Amino acid sequence: MCSIIGYKGASYAAPLIIESLRRMEYRGYDSVGIATIDAGNILVSKGVGKVAEVSRALGFQKMPGQIGIGHTRWATHGGITNANAHPHEACTSKVAVVHNGIIENYRELKRDLISSGHSFKSETDSEVIAHMLEESLSVVQDKVKAFVKVCSKLKGAYAFVAVFSDGTLCGSRYDEPLIVGLSNDGYFISSDVLGFLQYTDKAIFLDNKDIAVVAGENLYLYDSDGNAVRREITQVAWELGAADKGAYAHHTLKEIHEQRKTVLSGMDQNEKDLISFCDILLQAKSVYITGSGTSYHSALLAKYIFAKLAKIRTEPILSSEFQYVLDFIDKDSVILAISQSGETADVLNSVKHAKETGAKVLSIVNISTSSLARLSDSFLTVNCGPEVGVAATKSFTGQLSVIYAVTDRLCGYSLGIVSKKQAIASAIEDVLSLEDNTIKLADLLKDLRDIYILGKSLHYPIALEGALKIKELTYLHAEGIAAGELKHGPLALIDENSIVMVINPRDNTFNDVLSNAHEIKSRGAKIIGISTEPDEVYDHFINIPNFDSILYPLIEIVPLQLLAYHLALKKNADPDYPRNLAKSVTVK
Ligand code: G6P
Repeated sequence: MCSIIGYKGASYAAPLIIESLRRMEYRGYDSVGIATIDAGNILVSKGVGKVAEVSRALGFQKMPGQIGIGHTRWATHGGITNANAHPHEACTSKVAVVHNGIIENYRELKRDLISSGHSFKSETDSEVIAHMLEESLSVVQDKVKAFVKVCSKLKGAYAFVAVFSDGTLCGSRYDEPLIVGLSNDGYFISSDVLGFLQYTDKAIFLDNKDIAVVAGENLYLYDSDGNAVRREITQVAWELGAADKGAYAHHTLKEIHEQRKTVLSGMDQNEKDLISFCDILLQAKSVYITGSGTSYHSALLAKYIFAKLAKIRTEPILSSEFQYVLDFIDKDSVILAISQSGETADVLNSVKHAKETGAKVLSIVNISTSSLARLSDSFLTVNCGPEVGVAATKSFTGQLSVIYAVTDRLCGYSLGIVSKKQAIASAIEDVLSLEDNTIKLADLLKDLRDIYILGKSLHYPIALEGALKIKELTYLHAEGIAAGELKHGPLALIDENSIVMVINPRDNTFNDVLSNAHEIKSRGAKIIGISTEPDEVYDHFINIPNFDSILYPLIEIVPLQLLAYHLALKKNADPDYPRNLAKSVTVK
């Protein structure tokens, strides 16, 4: 959600913090702010908008000081205003705080603070932390003790970093990520390794309720009772260069095009990891697959693929609904959680609930150091590199690749995924070359109010994912529909002004879906076919290559991603940063 960063070291803090915020902006981009310490004073600058524009307008770059904190916000409590932008200071300007998460009991805390004389400048839940630290420090005068006291009173999930006018930097977390980066010239405390990976690959992943203190030139770590603790230093591996958009106009477009390569990385699993992952799956009495947004569509597709090829029955459940079906889950169950970030709160909550019942947890993540990977008994990585565009593209096909690799192992390698890798890459290359076709279709669709996408069997999750891409990137209403369900209701929506997209490559669903297309056409609507073969029923046609039918989902999603991207441009929407969304949703 929000991104938070703190730095204390030998360099000027502001330029480092701006760069860190730029790299973590995908977590939220409603407002941005920085606080630095100079000559014992806290200087705060903040405003509504994206990092580049606010930073330029307010001159962040010139802020003095070698200690500082920064924040990008995804609003939860309080409107998108300058006052609600972080950092938040307490009354005496001796402490400023940046926070990610939700303080669920902030109303009671705020009421008590107001009655003891504190005055608030924002409507946020976060500001209570600054005032609570100020209040505690007036009593205990020791920052660790103050942190212990404040954290013991907070309810909800949080990660926050505070900077004090005496030059101390402190942070703590509960159920939100917070990572310390150890560089040659100082320390970072960040909500994501991307916040400091350009400076160092040495990281400490704080445990829940840990307190990190950077005082003088040293880092000190404490547990929730204030006892000194040691935590392991992890070396983080990441291809940093890949986070740039290169010659592409947007990250999203670059990431769509990268799929020609990234789709193969997910299939390259370490044999030992794959075996231990599959063994856990095979021992399960029941398997539940969970995820949010795009990752849920991967879960849905996994259900079809596991059933068809590995003959394993699974149940996909939206992570936000997961806890309400917990009654079914026990120690013989396996939960397979799918998440690009590995930090989505709904997914992590599902997994925590499941673990309490003794169930085993498997996961498919893009970030191997994520909270989800750490909670899992075994995990596999998508390996598609950093995905910056808020709407998932290459991570989706990457997740599908991992699912195919797992299925291949489960069915004794009869799918033969390894021998098909080159053919998959060139099929994706072929559909990427259809970009001009999708630009023309974007012209046709841009003034519609509703777009419908039909698919059956394996193509149904792709219809849902295609519709999600259009919603996210273009703000048009788009709906993915199981083709056979059309006659049970949605057909009533269709008239001569409708345009319906039909995903229908040649496989065992082909004839049924073609009949559905005719039913729609006879109501006067226009049809866009995405298929391996043309048909007179299609008014417009996207020709995808003939392929191994079980692998079509990997290919047919690509023109839909390109269409959503070009529709966004036609509608003057920023495809990388859709309004109201964040890439990593770490609140419930
Ligand atoms: C957010 C993003 C979606 C993403 C979903 C799940 O809602 O905007 O694009 O699919 O989170 O993210 P995850 O990291 O768990 O895959």
